[in-house]
Amino acid sequence: MNKTPASNETKLGILDHAELNKHEIKGLKNTWEYLVSHQEETMDTLLINKAHKFGFDFLYNWAGKYRTSTPLVGNLEPPAPHLIPELMINLFNDLIYRLNNFDSDNLEELVKLLAWFEYRFIFIHPYPNTNGRTSRLLTNYILLKLGYPILDYSNRSENRAAYIQAMQEADEKNFENLEIFIAEELNKALKNMS
Ligand SMILES: Nc1ncnc2c1ncn2[C@@H]1O[C@H](COP(=O)(O)OP(=O)(O)OP(=O)(O)O)[C@@H](O)[C@H]1O
Ligand SMILES: [Mg+2]
Repeated sequence: MNKTPASNETKLGILDHAELNKHEIKGLKNTWEYLVSHQEETMDTLLINKAHKFGFDFLYNWAGKYRTSTPLVGNLEPPAPHLIPELMINLFNDLIYRLNNFDSDNLEELVKLLAWFEYRFIFIHPYPNTNGRTSRLLTNYILLKLGYPILDYSNRSENRAAYIQAMQEADEKNFENLEIFIAEELNKALKNMS
């Protein structure tokens, strides 16, 4: 099986951290533009992989394709590569079911849904890299589709240690701190709107 490429190996050569970051920001921006212009489509794995490919094709050979090896994410080993397609299909089917069966005016429910989705996407860790940022971007896409303002999740890089800890707590089925992060960002975004 192919090894997952090192994250600094790109179609543009081996890049240093700052350069890579600049290109990845562009990749995320492209991914977002693709999603925004396909809002009428069902949010399923096909759409997400197409958006990721559109976004990152200039940078990564693996854009829009799942990983073929298993990195350690903190202390956790994400699922084996052969399980990813089914896990992703289930995740998006589950998301669509939940979106059809909840009251989107209920902020508490909304925050729970976003935290669940963000955590599950990162847990599956479908791509070799960019999973954290893609999950946060998709969280925003859910908000956009529901008519909510999108979140400024720079908070989650400023408070990196607390964010990672919230993720580790979610591994233990305790979503409280992840939900608090998201609720704070959502409240800020809603305040900025009014
Ligand atoms: N020690 C850890 N325990 C649990 N989850 C972790 C740990 N370290 C990283 N993560 C999760 O993995 C994500 C990083 O995955 P990946 O490198 O594929 O995404 P990224 O977009 O490049 O990173 P980032 O989210 O850091 O910008 C983090 O956002 C975080 O959610
Ligand atoms: Mg990374």
